[in-house]
Amino acid sequence: MAGEFSAVKVTDTVWWVGAIDWGLRDFHGYATQRGTTYNAYLVMADKVTLIDTVKRPFLDEMMARVTSVVEPSRIDYVVSNHTEMDHSGSLGEAIAAAEPEKVFASKMGVKALGRHFDLGREVTAVADGETLSLGNMNLTFVETRMLHWPDSMFTYLAEEELLFSSDAFGMHLASSERFDDEIDPSILEHEGARYFANILLPYAPLITKLIARVGELGIPIRTICSDHGPVWRSDVAGVIQRYANWAAQKRSRKAVVVYDTMWQSTARMAKAVTEGLIGSGVSAKLMPLKSSHRSDVAAEMLDAGALVVGSPTLNNGLFPTVADLLCYLKGLKPKGLVGAAFGSYGWSGEAVRDLAGMLEAMKVELVGDPVKSLYVPGDEELAECRSLGMRVADVLKERCADG
Ligand code: FEO
Repeated sequence: MAGEFSAVKVTDTVWWVGAIDWGLRDFHGYATQRGTTYNAYLVMADKVTLIDTVKRPFLDEMMARVTSVVEPSRIDYVVSNHTEMDHSGSLGEAIAAAEPEKVFASKMGVKALGRHFDLGREVTAVADGETLSLGNMNLTFVETRMLHWPDSMFTYLAEEELLFSSDAFGMHLASSERFDDEIDPSILEHEGARYFANILLPYAPLITKLIARVGELGIPIRTICSDHGPVWRSDVAGVIQRYANWAAQKRSRKAVVVYDTMWQSTARMAKAVTEGLIGSGVSAKLMPLKSSHRSDVAAEMLDAGALVVGSPTLNNGLFPTVADLLCYLKGLKPKGLVGAAFGSYGWSGEAVRDLAGMLEAMKVELVGDPVKSLYVPGDEELAECRSLGMRVADVLKERCADG
């Protein structure tokens, strides 16, 4: 009997049995404007295997999709590639329903699962490079520590040349389509970049190493089944190349000017800085924090060469939205940026000093002295702001070859 939810066939032996979260708009401070999916997969080998589960509120959806292919009691193995609860939240219930012979996770995964759940049974640790026989098929496990949790791992299904890649190569995108070739490529590029910039950027050096390692292993990959967003079956080489490019953090002749303002003084300064940048022939993106989310700024910073930040002084310190942004960006550990600071004040002016300090703590190389304006900027301060923009542009033109 057809139920409310059905599985989607990925290959002859692999089915998508995940869930679509159309309404998600925040993922740990990252604005997910298009919702997301939690992807779980069923491998219909001699040993029927469930790879990952879904966020707890979506348990019934996942179980209904599983049941559309096979009775849950026929599941022999469960593999947990990642303990974060958008993928392990339904693990306990799935195990209770399936009563599988074995549950597998990485060594760190076994520890992490133990800290999250009382599964009431043993979880078997698998080693990096270990292969598990499913009878007629084989799964090989590849530890990907800190991509993006210590427990994270990939699982490779050799007979299908298919990689279950956990969060990697994913994106937050709810859609009725399950495959990359069914979705507008510009949406995939946009949401993929946002996901990388907001979640994976701190681990960029590890991603570069991992891509090199996979290349050295010579493992053929025809399909990538990530835990979020579409299955990659058409543009596999393309998505791997995009990851390699993003991880390299190649900087372009683009500056992001981000600010907040109280009485438009810092806003006027921001516009003058931006005019200086544009007039010197580089690309500039002006992002007022009243209308730009921190994750939009993070996404713009993925290829920008400069971060220029403005803040009014409020109660002897940074404006709260500016402090929020810098705290968020610092955690993402962007590399190779130049930057500058500016802002207005009434009587003390600590914000500009604090801004410069925070940018330096982020290892952003400051160009020129910060520009401060008492109350409302006059011609002199606006000229200083234009000049600051021009100096940043000159450095970008010197260091970044592209336009
Ligand atoms: Fe999609 Fe790290 O969880």
